[in-house]
Amino acid sequence: MKWLVLQVILASLLLHFGYAYKYETYFYKQKVDHFSFVDPDSYSQRYLINDESWDSDGGPIFFYAGNEGDITWFAENTGFMWDIAPEFNALIIFAEHRYYGVSLPYGNKSFTEPKYSGYLTSEQALADFAELISYLRIALPGAKNSAVIAFGGSYGGMLAAWFRMKYPHVVQGSIAASAPILQFIDITPCEKFGQVVTADFARESSQCVEVIRNSWAAIDAVTADEVGMNWLTGAWKLCQPLKTQKDVQKVKEYLTDVWTNLAMVVCTHLTEPTLEPKALLEELFAGACTEMVMPMCYDGVKDFFEPSPWDFKAYATKCYESWNIYPRPLMAPMIYGGKDISAASNIVFSNGLLDPWSTGGVMWNVSDSVVSIIIPEGAHHLDLRSSNPDDPQSVIDARILEKKYISTWIESYKSENEI
Ligand SMILES: *[C@@H]1O[C@H](CO)[C@@H](O)[C@H](O)[C@H]1NC(C)=O
Ligand SMILES: *[C@@H]1O[C@H](CO)[C@@H](O)[C@H](O)[C@H]1NC(C)=O
Repeated sequence: MKWLVLQVILASLLLHFGYAYKYETYFYKQKVDHFSFVDPDSYSQRYLINDESWDSDGGPIFFYAGNEGDITWFAENTGFMWDIAPEFNALIIFAEHRYYGVSLPYGNKSFTEPKYSGYLTSEQALADFAELISYLRIALPGAKNSAVIAFGGSYGGMLAAWFRMKYPHVVQGSIAASAPILQFIDITPCEKFGQVVTADFARESSQCVEVIRNSWAAIDAVTADEVGMNWLTGAWKLCQPLKTQKDVQKVKEYLTDVWTNLAMVVCTHLTEPTLEPKALLEELFAGACTEMVMPMCYDGVKDFFEPSPWDFKAYATKCYESWNIYPRPLMAPMIYGGKDISAASNIVFSNGLLDPWSTGGVMWNVSDSVVSIIIPEGAHHLDLRSSNPDDPQSVIDARILEKKYISTWIESYKSENEI
């Protein structure tokens, strides 16, 4: 594992001193609640613009549907949009997701209680995006007839896909990378995710898989008494001393997250030298815990995690303890259709098979215009990153196909509107 840590550090330094994209930062005044007349509050949503390649006489708009994080990070790590903007003469926009980065509806208070945090939903976020684009079409001379293509990775990919489904008059097509829109209750078996994580580690070393699989019982054995807990606190240099079994459980949960995210880091690293591990770790799917209930379960045999069934009650309790909100697990499938998306159009779903989130991805061609691209050597939304000499052929091909679909969407929008 040591070489890996070293390489990851080197790679992050590379990124740090490497290229940076240029953009201007703006803010748009959004309603906090788009769907009722009760709350009149507004907030400032941050968005970034680059018009260097733009043909301001109807050139398309490439719109990144910001996900859970600081939008500048997504701007730096979505090189695909920057790479292809010149050949499409496209305007580039990155819009920050409400409640992330500096787009906090209630500043410091945003997460303190449900009356402030309750507007953190994907529906509100999509409405923000729709309003912003509608405004820009008027505000930017020449944008009135521009086709809009949405891009997103991970939760951003889900948003990009749903954006096209719900606002087809605002966005003409979407590239949804590594978008686990099917990772919901009753749609995707909960054990798949852990199995892909484990398989990713097994590609590196089967010994490593065994070590991790055995570690859970080892932690239990060691921490059975106070002496053991103290020992582990020291051995792992934990910031908080282990005092109760609840603390031990927390450490295990933390480890589960670490292994999961390392699977993404390790695999991305195999093909993607310019990677910032901290940011990747931050990209952890925190999301909005209320509607994005994505069941995970582990058996410790086909995967290397501590055996644990999917426990909605425990999930709900935790959600309530952290946010004072009970989740609504069937909300997202109800609003967006779950597997039944045959009425949608103009969406490319791309899925890297090394990416654990691919288990909740759309892996089949739904129709002529809702297609799925499988990238066997692909990690978490690798296709959205800038092209790189180490890219596997499958990623290069995926990007070519994505560009082909983007051209088609733009052309058909133009001909439909006789532009
Ligand atoms: C949050 O609180 C801190 C300290 O009270 C203050 O300095 C900061 O400006 C606040 N930020 C916002 C966004 O309100
Ligand atoms: C979907 O169709 C495209 C052709 O447009 C093809 O390249 C791709 O492999 C198909 N995807 C699946 C999962 O069959």
